[in-house]
Amino acid sequence: MLETERLTLRTWTLRDADFVFDMYSRHEVRRYIGRGDVMQEREEAVRLLERWSELQHPIHHIWAVERTVDERVLGVLLLKSIPASGTDGAPSGDTEIGWHLHPDAWGHGYASEAAARVLRFAFEAGLEKVVAVTNPANTASQSVCRRIGMRHKGQTDAYYDTICELFEATP
Ligand SMILES: CC(C)(COP(=O)(O)OP(=O)(O)OC[C@H]1O[C@@H](n2cnc3c(N)ncnc32)[C@H](O)[C@@H]1OP(=O)(O)O)[C@@H](O)C(=O)NCCC(=O)NCCS
Repeated sequence: MLETERLTLRTWTLRDADFVFDMYSRHEVRRYIGRGDVMQEREEAVRLLERWSELQHPIHHIWAVERTVDERVLGVLLLKSIPASGTDGAPSGDTEIGWHLHPDAWGHGYASEAAARVLRFAFEAGLEKVVAVTNPANTASQSVCRRIGMRHKGQTDAYYDTICELFEATP
């Protein structure tokens, strides 16, 4: 569990399925993620939570971001392996940080606050570099990268078989 001034980052449980389904069934959340497909059924959220719970890694985690004062779930923070292009999803060797918040939680600085904490966690755990990639049109996410001090490296096609804006952070 990680804590910030306003937030708690904790493990997901199956009790979070309604929230995850609500968040990922929204076009405005999914439009810059992968192919942009929205969830159609709650069962997809359950399967995703089951996959997340199988991730056992000393540094990589997928956290639920909760507002500490009222335990309201706001979204997800990810620190995970990023797949290389042209490999059918094989790991590139790099670690990416990512964030998906429910639209009701946008505009309060929660994503940046949680992401800054996860970046600190990553470097305390010994990572030498963390990358973030965004769809070139996803200016909100690029702003999060900049707010937490990541450097813009231009565009890359090295990951996810697509062209992304690349941001990097080092300790
Ligand atoms: C990307 C995403 C997480 C950004 O959320 P966000 O709320 O804009 O980001 P932040 O947490 O940094 O908040 C910054 C906003 O909060 C405002 N804010 C209010 N109080 C604040 C505070 N105490 N501290 C910092 N910012 C604050 C800022 O002014 C800014 O608003 P603005 O964009 O209107 O200028 C969100 O758009 C999202 O979940 N999108 C869908 C998923 C997605 O695309 N993820 C990224 C894939 S690469």
